[in-house]
Amino acid sequence: MWVNDTLNVNEKGHLTIGGVDCTELAKEYGTPLYVMDEDVIVQACRSYKKSFEKYYNGKGLPLFASKAFCCKEMYRILAQEGLGADVVSGGELYTALSVGFPAENLHLHGNNKKPEEVKLALQNGVGKIVIDNFPELEMVDQIAAKLNKTAHISIRVKPGVDAHTHDFIKTGKIDSKFGFALETGEAFKAVEQALLCKNLVLDELHCHIGSQILDTEPFVTTAEIMLDFIYEIQTKFNYKITQLNLGGGFGINYKQEDNRPPFDSYMEAVSAALQAKASALNIVVPYIFIEPGRSIVGESGINLYTIGAIKEIPGIRTYVSVDGSMADNIRPALYGAEYTVVNATQAANSADFKATISGKTCETDTLQENTLIAKPAVGDILAFLSTGAYTQSMASNYNRTPRPPVIMVKDGKTRVVVKGETYEDLLKLDV
Ligand SMILES: Cc1ncc(COP(=O)(O)O)c(C=O)c1O
Repeated sequence: MWVNDTLNVNEKGHLTIGGVDCTELAKEYGTPLYVMDEDVIVQACRSYKKSFEKYYNGKGLPLFASKAFCCKEMYRILAQEGLGADVVSGGELYTALSVGFPAENLHLHGNNKKPEEVKLALQNGVGKIVIDNFPELEMVDQIAAKLNKTAHISIRVKPGVDAHTHDFIKTGKIDSKFGFALETGEAFKAVEQALLCKNLVLDELHCHIGSQILDTEPFVTTAEIMLDFIYEIQTKFNYKITQLNLGGGFGINYKQEDNRPPFDSYMEAVSAALQAKASALNIVVPYIFIEPGRSIVGESGINLYTIGAIKEIPGIRTYVSVDGSMADNIRPALYGAEYTVVNATQAANSADFKATISGKTCETDTLQENTLIAKPAVGDILAFLSTGAYTQSMASNYNRTPRPPVIMVKDGKTRVVVKGETYEDLLKLDV
């Protein structure tokens, strides 16, 4: 009915998630509230895992992009499903390690890693350090030497494909802070330099072409470009790179019309291209990593709010204010993100009331402009759908707002996986 089929309407006309009434959730845990359906996360993990078995002889591993949603319970679920994870900070790495996540299945990213983050990674046996720039190459080599370790590395390449929406642009995408450009020869130099570093082993090439991409074509093009580069390296240096990381970016349904492809269609399309190209170039079919973030957790999550003030400005618009804000979901303010919004209390009624949903911070923090919902009343519970990714993980304490808890729903039961902050928590670090 809506963006995913675990959302329904019960006999009371209330929205349900994983069979649980959203208005009851609001009553029990308060609002604003992050709710995630664990089965939706697990299904996404399995879909990616299975796609490697089905289309690529199991020669690959999905790494969850931690930045999309990071907490201890998420790493427990990932470990149980046999996925790895990419981390981009000491904090994400520390969280994963705290629950005993297998370090060899963690890859450390970042365009400006601190020496202490690299040290933490190497000391704990992190599987791969993805090198972003020349100073970092030297830094990682030196830290590995000091620790008397060998660091397994990947080189992050800008493949010249830029895909953020339905379109993608080939060539010219060298203006990015991430990685080494292919077309300027910079990536080639990085490989040359990496091969000279005594404490580094170059296993892999990495690339990531964008986010919320709703078709497979840009990934296929990118995979082919990367294989050409692997071939060039093999020819010029007589050095075989056997692993390729194609990054994340697979799109989800925020709106019904997004109509995303099934998650396993990426490996289906990319595998065929990789096998054909590797055979044409007479090189080994590489082991593949992918880094889905949004698509693993995005559709599992909803944000629940309670409607407070309703303010009609005749002839202009009706503001419906909720008890959440840009502090719990920055995405609309940051880049105009669009969501499906449902009046969870009146979910059986037709969505024919045009509302502009506002947050409660001291900013013009419009959470959604001119969206259609069932006629709202003060006290109704409003649900934003597909909020599982880049929402809680980007939350702030703006206006000294305590961050809401995260509730997981499974088999009709609920549990807290991240506690909500209290006012006391807000004072904890003040001196
Ligand atoms: C290097 C890298 N990998 C993976 C991802 C995850 O992307 P997504 O959540 O769109 O799948 C990102 C997101 O920006 C990224 O920068």
